[in-house]
Amino acid sequence: MTTSWPTLTEAVGACEKCRLCQTRKHVVLGEGDPRAALMFIGEGPGQQEDETGRPFVGAAGQLLDRMLAAIGLTRAQVYICNIVKCRPPQNRVPEPDERAACMDYLRQQVALVRPKVIVCLGSTPTRALLGDDMRITRDRGVWQLRKGVWFMPTFHPAALLRDQDKKRPAWEDFKAIRAKLVELGVYEEKSIGKV
Ligand code: URA
Ligand code: SF4
Repeated sequence: MTTSWPTLTEAVGACEKCRLCQTRKHVVLGEGDPRAALMFIGEGPGQQEDETGRPFVGAAGQLLDRMLAAIGLTRAQVYICNIVKCRPPQNRVPEPDERAACMDYLRQQVALVRPKVIVCLGSTPTRALLGDDMRITRDRGVWQLRKGVWFMPTFHPAALLRDQDKKRPAWEDFKAIRAKLVELGVYEEKSIGKV
Protein backbone atom coordinates (compact mmCIF):
# COMPACT_ATOMS: atom_id res chain seq x y z
CA MET A 1 0.00 0.00 0.00
CA THR A 2 1.35 3.39 -0.92
CA THR A 3 -0.14 6.02 1.27
CA SER A 4 1.07 8.84 3.45
CA TRP A 5 -0.46 10.99 6.15
CA PRO A 6 -0.78 14.06 3.88
CA THR A 7 -2.46 11.99 1.14
CA LEU A 8 -4.82 10.35 3.62
CA THR A 9 -5.65 13.65 5.35
CA GLU A 10 -6.46 15.27 2.03
CA ALA A 11 -8.60 12.35 0.85
CA VAL A 12 -10.66 12.23 4.06
CA GLY A 13 -11.03 16.01 4.14
CA ALA A 14 -12.67 15.96 0.72
CA CYS A 15 -14.51 12.63 1.11
CA GLU A 16 -18.07 12.29 -0.15
CA LYS A 17 -18.20 8.47 -0.17
CA CYS A 18 -21.24 8.26 2.12
CA ARG A 19 -24.20 10.37 3.21
CA LEU A 20 -22.49 11.47 6.44
CA CYS A 21 -20.56 14.04 4.39
CA GLN A 22 -23.78 16.01 3.94
CA THR A 23 -24.23 16.87 7.61
CA ARG A 24 -20.66 17.01 8.96
CA LYS A 25 -19.00 20.27 9.97
CA HIS A 26 -15.51 18.79 10.17
CA VAL A 27 -14.07 15.39 9.36
CA VAL A 28 -12.32 13.80 12.32
CA LEU A 29 -9.46 11.65 11.07
CA GLY A 30 -7.69 11.00 14.37
CA GLU A 31 -4.82 12.29 16.45
CA GLY A 32 -1.91 11.28 18.63
CA ASP A 33 1.44 9.61 18.02
CA PRO A 34 1.46 8.58 14.32
CA ARG A 35 3.66 5.58 15.26
CA ALA A 36 1.96 4.70 18.55
CA ALA A 37 2.11 1.13 19.84
CA LEU A 38 -1.40 1.55 21.23
CA MET A 39 -4.38 2.59 19.10
CA PHE A 40 -7.92 3.33 20.30
CA ILE A 41 -10.84 3.07 17.90
CA GLY A 42 -14.24 4.54 18.76
CA GLU A 43 -17.51 4.67 16.88
CA GLY A 44 -17.72 8.08 15.26
CA PRO A 45 -17.45 11.77 16.05
CA GLY A 46 -20.03 13.33 18.37
CA GLN A 47 -21.11 16.94 18.46
CA GLN A 48 -17.97 18.41 20.01
CA GLU A 49 -15.73 16.30 17.79
CA ASP A 50 -17.67 17.50 14.73
CA GLU A 51 -17.26 21.12 15.89
CA THR A 52 -13.53 20.83 16.56
CA GLY A 53 -12.32 18.18 14.12
CA ARG A 54 -10.69 16.29 17.02
CA PRO A 55 -11.58 12.79 18.31
CA PHE A 56 -12.82 12.15 21.85
CA VAL A 57 -12.86 15.71 23.17
CA GLY A 58 -16.34 15.61 24.79
CA ALA A 59 -17.32 14.05 28.11
CA ALA A 60 -16.48 10.50 26.97
CA GLY A 61 -13.10 11.71 25.73
CA GLN A 62 -12.32 13.35 29.04
CA LEU A 63 -13.04 10.07 30.80
CA LEU A 64 -10.79 8.28 28.29
CA ASP A 65 -8.03 10.80 29.13
CA ARG A 66 -8.42 10.03 32.84
CA MET A 67 -8.28 6.29 32.22
CA LEU A 68 -5.15 6.72 30.12
CA ALA A 69 -3.56 8.82 32.85
CA ALA A 70 -4.36 6.09 35.36
CA ILE A 71 -2.24 3.62 33.38
CA GLY A 72 0.54 6.17 33.03
CA LEU A 73 -0.17 7.31 29.47
CA THR A 74 -1.04 10.59 27.84
CA ARG A 75 -3.09 11.18 24.71
CA ALA A 76 0.08 12.21 22.89
CA GLN A 77 1.55 8.71 23.40
CA VAL A 78 -1.34 6.84 21.78
CA TYR A 79 -3.32 7.16 18.55
CA ILE A 80 -7.08 7.78 18.75
CA CYS A 81 -9.58 7.54 15.90
CA ASN A 82 -13.02 6.24 14.95
CA ILE A 83 -14.75 3.80 12.58
CA VAL A 84 -16.44 6.65 10.69
CA LYS A 85 -14.76 10.00 10.25
CA CYS A 86 -17.94 12.09 9.99
CA ARG A 87 -20.58 12.56 12.68
CA PRO A 88 -23.74 10.53 12.29
CA PRO A 89 -26.77 12.82 12.83
CA GLN A 90 -28.03 12.74 16.44
CA ASN A 91 -25.06 10.48 17.22
CA ARG A 92 -26.89 7.46 15.82
CA VAL A 93 -24.95 4.26 15.25
CA PRO A 94 -23.24 4.32 11.83
CA GLU A 95 -25.08 2.25 9.20
CA PRO A 96 -23.31 -0.78 7.71
CA ASP A 97 -22.87 0.98 4.36
CA GLU A 98 -21.33 4.02 6.09
CA ARG A 99 -18.97 1.78 8.04
CA ALA A 100 -17.97 0.01 4.85
CA ALA A 101 -17.48 3.25 2.91
CA CYS A 102 -15.10 4.57 5.57
CA MET A 103 -13.20 1.36 6.35
CA ASP A 104 -10.41 1.86 3.85
CA TYR A 105 -9.33 5.03 5.66
CA LEU A 106 -9.03 3.09 8.91
CA ARG A 107 -7.04 0.38 7.12
CA GLN A 108 -4.65 3.05 5.90
CA GLN A 109 -4.35 4.53 9.39
CA VAL A 110 -3.50 1.12 10.84
CA ALA A 111 -0.95 0.56 8.05
CA LEU A 112 0.72 3.89 8.81
CA VAL A 113 0.66 3.67 12.61
CA ARG A 114 1.44 -0.07 12.78
CA PRO A 115 0.15 -0.44 16.36
CA LYS A 116 0.89 -3.54 18.42
CA VAL A 117 -2.35 -3.24 20.39
CA ILE A 118 -5.75 -2.01 19.18
CA VAL A 119 -8.49 -1.24 21.70
CA CYS A 120 -12.04 -1.34 20.33
CA LEU A 121 -14.19 1.08 22.32
CA GLY A 122 -17.72 -0.34 22.40
CA SER A 123 -19.86 -2.43 20.12
CA THR A 124 -19.40 -0.62 16.79
CA PRO A 125 -15.63 -0.98 16.41
CA THR A 126 -15.70 -4.43 18.03
CA ARG A 127 -18.19 -5.73 15.47
CA ALA A 128 -16.64 -3.86 12.56
CA LEU A 129 -13.15 -5.22 13.26
CA LEU A 130 -13.69 -8.56 15.00
CA GLY A 131 -16.97 -9.73 13.45
CA ASP A 132 -20.68 -9.00 13.64
CA ASP A 133 -21.19 -11.93 16.00
CA MET A 134 -19.24 -10.11 18.74
CA ARG A 135 -21.17 -9.00 21.83
CA ILE A 136 -19.41 -6.36 23.86
CA THR A 137 -20.78 -7.43 27.25
CA ARG A 138 -19.78 -11.06 26.62
CA ASP A 139 -16.54 -10.56 24.70
CA ARG A 140 -14.92 -7.51 26.34
CA GLY A 141 -11.66 -8.07 28.17
CA VAL A 142 -10.62 -11.02 25.99
CA TRP A 143 -7.50 -10.62 23.87
CA GLN A 144 -7.67 -11.62 20.22
CA LEU A 145 -4.52 -11.85 18.10
CA ARG A 146 -5.22 -10.98 14.45
CA LYS A 147 -2.45 -10.65 11.88
CA GLY A 148 0.11 -10.00 14.60
CA VAL A 149 -1.92 -7.26 16.32
CA TRP A 150 -3.50 -7.73 19.76
CA PHE A 151 -7.13 -6.61 19.87
CA MET A 152 -8.97 -5.81 23.10
CA PRO A 153 -12.70 -5.05 23.03
CA THR A 154 -13.84 -2.96 25.98
CA PHE A 155 -16.77 -0.74 26.88
CA HIS A 156 -17.08 2.66 25.25
CA PRO A 157 -16.34 5.41 27.83
CA ALA A 158 -19.79 6.91 27.13
CA ALA A 159 -21.28 3.62 28.40
CA LEU A 160 -19.28 4.02 31.63
CA LEU A 161 -20.80 7.47 32.11
CA ARG A 162 -24.30 5.99 31.75
CA ASP A 163 -23.73 2.87 33.86
CA GLN A 164 -21.44 2.92 36.88
CA ASP A 165 -21.41 -0.90 37.03
CA LYS A 166 -19.33 -1.00 33.85
CA LYS A 167 -16.49 1.02 35.38
CA ARG A 168 -14.85 -1.80 37.29
CA PRO A 169 -14.64 -4.25 34.36
CA ALA A 170 -13.42 -1.42 32.12
CA TRP A 171 -10.70 -0.60 34.61
CA GLU A 172 -9.67 -4.28 34.64
CA ASP A 173 -9.40 -4.08 30.84
CA PHE A 174 -7.18 -0.99 31.07
CA LYS A 175 -4.89 -2.73 33.54
CA ALA A 176 -4.69 -5.67 31.12
CA ILE A 177 -3.81 -3.27 28.30
CA ARG A 178 -1.01 -1.78 30.38
CA ALA A 179 0.26 -5.28 31.24
CA LYS A 180 0.21 -6.28 27.55
CA LEU A 181 2.28 -3.22 26.61
CA VAL A 182 4.80 -4.10 29.31
CA GLU A 183 4.83 -7.76 28.14
CA LEU A 184 5.46 -6.59 24.57
CA GLY A 185 8.32 -4.43 25.82
CA VAL A 186 6.69 -1.24 24.58
CA TYR A 187 6.43 0.60 27.88
CA GLU A 188 8.19 0.13 31.17
CA GLU A 189 6.35 -1.12 34.21
CA LYS A 190 5.04 1.82 36.21
CA SER A 191 2.76 2.15 39.17
CA ILE A 192 -0.89 2.04 38.20
CA GLY A 193 -3.15 4.81 39.52
CA LYS A 194 -6.85 5.13 40.10
CA VAL A 195 -9.52 6.33 37.65
N1 URA B 1 -17.44 8.85 20.84
C1 URA B 1 -16.77 8.21 19.86
O1 URA B 1 -17.02 7.05 19.59
N2 URA B 1 -15.82 8.87 19.23
C2 URA B 1 -15.49 10.14 19.50
O2 URA B 1 -14.58 10.66 18.85
C3 URA B 1 -16.20 10.78 20.52
C4 URA B 1 -17.17 10.13 21.17
FE1 SF4 C 1 -16.22 9.68 3.75
FE2 SF4 C 1 -16.07 8.30 6.01
FE3 SF4 C 1 -17.08 10.77 6.02
FE4 SF4 C 1 -18.45 8.77 4.92
S1 SF4 C 1 -17.92 8.95 7.09
S2 SF4 C 1 -18.14 10.81 4.03
S3 SF4 C 1 -16.81 7.52 4.03
S4 SF4 C 1 -14.97 10.20 5.53
